[in-house]
Amino acid sequence: MLSITAVSHSFNGAPAITDVSLTVQPGEIVAIVGPSGCGKSTLLRIAASLLSPDAGEVHTTGARLGYIFQEPALLPWLRVRDNATLLADAASDAPFVESLLARAGLTEHRDKWPHELSGGMKMRLSLVRTMAARPSVVLADEPFGALDQITRHHLHDELLALHSTQPFAMVLVTHAIDEAVYLADRVLTMSPAPGRITATTTVPLARPRHAGLRYDANFAAVCGKVAASLTAAGA
Ligand SMILES: Nc1ncnc2c1ncn2[C@@H]1O[C@H](COP(=O)(O)OP(=O)(O)OP(=O)(O)O)[C@@H](O)[C@H]1O
Ligand SMILES: [Mg+2]
Repeated sequence: MLSITAVSHSFNGAPAITDVSLTVQPGEIVAIVGPSGCGKSTLLRIAASLLSPDAGEVHTTGARLGYIFQEPALLPWLRVRDNATLLADAASDAPFVESLLARAGLTEHRDKWPHELSGGMKMRLSLVRTMAARPSVVLADEPFGALDQITRHHLHDELLALHSTQPFAMVLVTHAIDEAVYLADRVLTMSPAPGRITATTTVPLARPRHAGLRYDANFAAVCGKVAASLTAAGA
């Protein structure tokens, strides 16, 4: 679905990522964790062909890409409801978009302008707009980073519910180990700059996953493994 092979990239002679390879299967959720500045956004931009790498290859065979930027990228001249439907296929998708707005807790704000939203609401609307296009591969750059924990946990479950009904592949960049483990099938650890993938942790937790899992010993053990891989990478 998405395949990245031996990709490297430098900015003004300073290497940002080195020899990164990554394959994502249809419906698979892969999380990438790594310290600030290690090249996570750079890797995602290369995966989306927003940036052309110095070396290596990217293949997205037949994929319909959706991208969630680290900052909410909304159109200020469109109301919430119109930002939400911007990338949807057709008017027939309107009920689906409304259901996404409801999942994101934005229904009562649908007639507002982006500048009338809080930071967290803007990010939630950004998520809705990407998912409204029914992407087969979602590239998400810390989509939950600006949200409080209660909203974040709620959206994790909404995302997983959506994923269970129409499985999309996802590359999820995050700083949060527990978020990576709760959502992903695999967690990749990146080293400090220049970023390399130094470890892969398989998440052996069955789906569907429910909130109680966060307090489970098996869950904590996987989080511990990822934390240890970050320490080993020098993060
Ligand atoms: N457009 C650019 N021009 C020059 N340098 C850049 C550019 N984009 C990123 N960099 C540099 O590349 C490195 C990796 O940046 P990147 O944004 O990919 O990190 P990140 O892992 O996403 O960090 P964060 O977790 O803070 O978002 C940093 O040293 C950054 O300064
Ligand atoms: Mg980033």
